[in-house]
Amino acid sequence: MLGQLNINNVRNITDIRIQPSAGINLILGSNGSGKTSVLEAIHMLALGKSFRSRSLKSVVQFSQPQLQVTAKTSSNIPVGLQYSIDSGLSIRLNNAPLKRLSELATQLPLQFIPANCHQFFEQGPKYRRQLLDWGLFHVEPNFNYLWQSYKKVLQQRNSALRQHKQVNEIQLWDSQLASHGEEITKLRKMQLSRLLKEFENIFPRLCPVYENASYELKYRDGWLKGESLLSALTASISRDQQLAYTRSGSHAADWLFKINDSDPSEVFSRGQQKLFYLALCMAQATITAQNNHETSILLFDDLSSELDLLHQVNVLKELDELPVQAFITATELDAALTENHTLFHVKQGRLLESGS
Ligand SMILES: Nc1ncnc2c1ncn2[C@@H]1O[C@H](COP(=O)(O)OP(=O)(O)OP(=O)(O)O)[C@@H](O)[C@H]1O
Ligand SMILES: [Mg+2]
Repeated sequence: MLGQLNINNVRNITDIRIQPSAGINLILGSNGSGKTSVLEAIHMLALGKSFRSRSLKSVVQFSQPQLQVTAKTSSNIPVGLQYSIDSGLSIRLNNAPLKRLSELATQLPLQFIPANCHQFFEQGPKYRRQLLDWGLFHVEPNFNYLWQSYKKVLQQRNSALRQHKQVNEIQLWDSQLASHGEEITKLRKMQLSRLLKEFENIFPRLCPVYENASYELKYRDGWLKGESLLSALTASISRDQQLAYTRSGSHAADWLFKINDSDPSEVFSRGQQKLFYLALCMAQATITAQNNHETSILLFDDLSSELDLLHQVNVLKELDELPVQAFITATELDAALTENHTLFHVKQGRLLESGS
């Protein structure tokens, strides 16, 4: 959770100071006013990167030398990010330079929900794995180590394949890759069943037409069903040599929640797809709060796109009940939604007024 947010020279925002509430913060303003830039600033602070520009250079306000974002965490620890065109990125946590970005991510569990999040289903397995692994990072202390080790071993194996090394030199990596991979699979399956349990409660409240639906988890390990990863690696060595990369493993896993025996991407409307993604993020936030006692931050860009008023009401009602601090943008919202929530109006990069 964040308090005392200050944003300087981020896109068209010269200087904004916000005291966010612990619950829902609505950021309203016309097109180009700076709403998404507020979310971008928070994203940079928690993750050290933007969600829309690869380089932070284009985020710095035109003709300025640097940008700055500062805030306090829930335990009142100051956190600050500065990016200077000349000297690059520096992040301070509790007034000391940050050693690893993962330290910051632990303090500020953050999920970003883009306006086009209904495209989640089309974006491929990598995005689905990332969503799942985000949750594991925050609730399973061992997961980050496992995943980083797995990736290192995979890189080594792939590099041996690319260099057309002897089979025994390639297979040198197999037992480590397999044991990390099996462990990752176990953790992912555990997280998915927790996730499905929360999702089953949340989704029908967001999307009442699916009130009595049945839900089923499908997980694809990333290698042939029924085999161990070690035997899958052994069996596919000549194919891997031809391809010059390792095809089987946890890096090729995928998952799906089937609803009423159907794949949501094939039967859901766009609004329902958006609600599905929102319910997933809400379920992740719930599990995170139960396990590491840190309130998640949810950045939700453009509440009203794809959702009608009734479903927007459902989303805010649900968020009101969840242990999350939400920053939600919209060009305009019905009075039924703004009541009882903290409002920030942005115009040309400035804050107009604030209050409930
Ligand atoms: N580096 C920069 N320096 C100054 N202004 C910039 C920079 N990069 C982008 N802008 C401008 O900042 C403004 C804020 O953009 P932002 O995406 O935050 O608007 P928004 O309120 O989310 O609009 P929309 O409702 O259209 O999504 C835009 O007018 C954009 O052109
Ligand atoms: Mg925007």
